[in-house]
Amino acid sequence: MAASLRSVFSRSPFAARTAFHSARFSSTVSKQPTLKERLSELIPAEIENVKRIRAEHGKKTFGPVAVDQLYGGMRGLPALIWDGSVLDAEEGIRFRGKSIPECQHLLPKAPGGSEPLPEGLFWLLVTGEIPTQQQVEELSKDWAARAAIPEFVEEILDRCPPTLHPMSQFSLAVTALNHDSAFAKAYQDGISKKEYWSPTFEDCMDLIAKLPNIAGRIYRNVFGQGKLPAIDQAKDYSHNLAALLGFGDNEAFVELLRLYITIHSDHEGGNVSAHTGKLVGSALSDPFLAFGASLNGLAGPLHGLANQEVLIWLRKMQDKIGENASDEAVKDYVWSTLKGGQVVPGYGHAVLRKTDPRYTAQREFAMKHLPDDPLFKLVGQIYNVVPDILLQAGKAKNPWPNVDAHSGVLLTHYGLTQMQFYTVLFGVSRAFGVAAQLIWDRGLGAPLERPKSYSSSAIEMMFKDKQA
Ligand SMILES: CC(C)(COP(=O)(O)OP(=O)(O)OC[C@H]1O[C@@H](n2cnc3c(N)ncnc32)[C@H](O)[C@@H]1OP(=O)(O)O)[C@@H](O)C(=O)NCCC(=O)NCCS
Repeated sequence: MAASLRSVFSRSPFAARTAFHSARFSSTVSKQPTLKERLSELIPAEIENVKRIRAEHGKKTFGPVAVDQLYGGMRGLPALIWDGSVLDAEEGIRFRGKSIPECQHLLPKAPGGSEPLPEGLFWLLVTGEIPTQQQVEELSKDWAARAAIPEFVEEILDRCPPTLHPMSQFSLAVTALNHDSAFAKAYQDGISKKEYWSPTFEDCMDLIAKLPNIAGRIYRNVFGQGKLPAIDQAKDYSHNLAALLGFGDNEAFVELLRLYITIHSDHEGGNVSAHTGKLVGSALSDPFLAFGASLNGLAGPLHGLANQEVLIWLRKMQDKIGENASDEAVKDYVWSTLKGGQVVPGYGHAVLRKTDPRYTAQREFAMKHLPDDPLFKLVGQIYNVVPDILLQAGKAKNPWPNVDAHSGVLLTHYGLTQMQFYTVLFGVSRAFGVAAQLIWDRGLGAPLERPKSYSSSAIEMMFKDKQA
């Protein structure tokens, strides 16, 4: 606890304030606060904190805006606030100030497990605090109790042709959950702005809770894997998700899912899926509409679909150059990809400039559980050759692997070989970050997003008579 408090204090004044509460509550044996109770304590304090920051610094500016940033996908443009996670170009992601290894160490585990429970990561994202074992168990139970999806959503999924991409089906089903949105209903009933966060919280809890049933149904419908089992109220979220996919008996796969969801949950506020959710939520679209939009962004090959693309690329490589190919043959294949005007999937990043720690966490998992897997060995071989080639090609600002370079290999090892499904698992995970952000945006009364766009002629006019 001392170490965790120290790292909280060194990272964030918000987390430091709340760490006292955490210590107090974790020493209370009987009634520990639920996530919603804790949140209701944190929101008023954070509203005051934001007021203070804006009063002290609101008129200050940091950094000029370059015209290149307007044309260049807004890279590096400071534009958003999100306390849940921050991405450092060199070090990678920290969730509320904690690195992935720190989360693996500090967050509660399942009995006999060694990977963090995503329930705990969600608690951390929402509160900045490490929950107790009891608090994550309560969250598991709460999500299991909310897990059923409406019959009409089941029917929507059952009517989808199996040729419709699993991500499109996923987005359809999540959007349709808006039918029962507590926020949309409360808004129609004239809820006060101050109360927005409460039905948003309920929707976000429902959203996360229902994703395993949606993902499981899509998987079984598309890939013909038999009847969907019932949610086990006594099991954690990842176990239930694994069971719905047909892997509930494989404890190593369940552990993989716990790690997978944790590391894929959030990647600060500006990535396509996180930012889309925030943007759509800023119009007071409910969390189901907002996260449905996030999923459509995640389904793009430069974002979440890259995990599918990596596997397709690896399989094509094996078909072309065979298994156990030499480094030279792998290099030639990578060059042929680049010369064909394609990207090497799983490499490069818009912000990161080093190997993604999410890649490293998965590599460590593989070394522990599947060191002799041939595809894992190929991924390692590719890691040894691709960065040099991307550097020689001279375009990519980051030649190192990202999260997607590794995830499919792990899933494949355990028999989840249907790569078109991989981004759905990324989507289940990303809901944790988007939901935490939506809750806080409504808690802090975040306004409608409306940045300014310019025409090219306006840019030319603006700088017409100015020196460079
Ligand atoms: C992630 C990604 C979209 C970031 O894009 P970005 O911020 O524009 O990246 P850069 O600034 O480094 O891009 C500069 C150039 O290098 C190219 N580049 C970047 N990564 C590359 C890769 N892995 N393979 C080949 N070329 C790459 C870009 O396509 C761009 O080319 P262009 O000037 O012809 O348009 C990009 O690295 C990519 O396409 N990676 C492969 C897909 C992937 O793994 N996505 C998952 C990300 S978590």
